[in-house]
Amino acid sequence: MSTGKHESYWIETSDFPPFEKLQTDINTELCVVGGGIAGITSAYLLTKKGYKVTLIEALKLGHGTTGYTTAKLSAQHKLIYDQLISIFGEKTAKIHYQAAMETIEFVQETEKELQADFQFNMEPAYVFTDEEKQIRQIEKEWSAYKKLGIPGALLDDIPLPISAKKAVRMDQQAQFHPLLFLQAMTTYITANGGTIYEDTRAETINEVGKTTVKLKDGGSVTADHVVIATHFPFYDFKGAYFARLDMARSYIVSGKSPLAYPGGMYISVDSPSRSVRSAKDKNGETLWLIGGEGHRPGKGKQMKEHYSNLRNWGRSEFDMEEFDYNWSSEDFISLDSLFYIGRITEQTKNIYVATAFRKWGMSGGITAAKEITSLIDTGESLYQDIYDPARNDGTKGIRTLAKNLVEVSKELVSGKLEKTTKSIDELEPGEAGKIRNKGKLIGVYKDNDGTLHKVDTTCTHMGCEVHWNDAETTWDCPCHGSRFRASGEVIEGPAVKDLKKAD
Ligand code: FES
Repeated sequence: MSTGKHESYWIETSDFPPFEKLQTDINTELCVVGGGIAGITSAYLLTKKGYKVTLIEALKLGHGTTGYTTAKLSAQHKLIYDQLISIFGEKTAKIHYQAAMETIEFVQETEKELQADFQFNMEPAYVFTDEEKQIRQIEKEWSAYKKLGIPGALLDDIPLPISAKKAVRMDQQAQFHPLLFLQAMTTYITANGGTIYEDTRAETINEVGKTTVKLKDGGSVTADHVVIATHFPFYDFKGAYFARLDMARSYIVSGKSPLAYPGGMYISVDSPSRSVRSAKDKNGETLWLIGGEGHRPGKGKQMKEHYSNLRNWGRSEFDMEEFDYNWSSEDFISLDSLFYIGRITEQTKNIYVATAFRKWGMSGGITAAKEITSLIDTGESLYQDIYDPARNDGTKGIRTLAKNLVEVSKELVSGKLEKTTKSIDELEPGEAGKIRNKGKLIGVYKDNDGTLHKVDTTCTHMGCEVHWNDAETTWDCPCHGSRFRASGEVIEGPAVKDLKKAD
């Protein structure tokens, strides 16, 4: 029985051309930092408007969160509309819904315009529960749909062959292949005067005089406008994003089932949560994508178990035997559940940020690109500033902020007192552990060739203790979600510096 590759289906079936690394000083009109859906869509829209755009990506295009998503292009966003109405009122909830619906239209139109195939198809989206205690929430969400005029239905069952006590359906939603979408826009950008660099990590921004993005390995980009689309903003002290973002890591497995896929995209509100959608593999056969098992990054012991839990669920519910792919991603959530899109602070007029897509980065990333393009091009918000990062985060926000700060303080203390695990000699190939050297914790990973990689496990962002993730073979930080390779190189921010090597 195959458990499949440790890779994302989207990455495996896309083919971006390589781009060179930037290490010199350059000038441009617009600098977009981040080669995921928010960054590439921003670069595409701004190139279409005639701006001279330079996009820099720390890794490879599409290899951040966008390559590891479920790629549901939906306005459903789990349960949110009842909550948005009660916190912000119907007007804001309606703008949020319409913004997401416009992203569906946008992808459909872009597919036609660029004469590409994004494997786009319309599907209804379902949020369901099999727990008595969640039924009321589903009913309240349906009442919110009715208030907002959202087409759908309240149901006692779902088309999937699993038990569900109540569900709410949203009609006219969509799913697609996110990297085919990015690939086509990348081709357009480079064919129309835009420049792209990969393996080029931004480290900080110098705002004295002109706005200059300083690069980690030397070189810089000076620009009239800078768009930070790095998922967690790398320039996070400005705007205090390190305190205003909550985070979650979740997992996806894909494989085939002997059952016929009934159509639709699904997500449960139960614990653990489950998400299901379908896609077509290279041979046109139906892949079942099963997601869930969300948890705070850097927390928990055996991360590999999250994949096996999903596979076991696929086996028991859908008779899946063979699995093809396994992947995971990290998501950030704002204090009040709305995205942070716009000027990084009220006073900063030419640095923009796009983050906190709350696991709905396909619609969130495109909404961000449209909003930032409008702010740069006309100075006007398309969405009446509901996503303005400088907004007041509200009472709910303050509670989450306090919870985040407590979490970080606890980690700063408890992480340093952590007990060591095994001695170096006891480590098996592919295994990692921590040892103490003169009172300092050192992370040691023994790779499959037996080579030892030793790092100082102090996160280079704000000093929390990173923890080993055996599913991804990375060091993950529980405080703000930075991730590092086993050998210490930073993969995901807010950290921009590698872990220090240790003896
Ligand atoms: Fe902030 Fe590690 S301390 S990500």
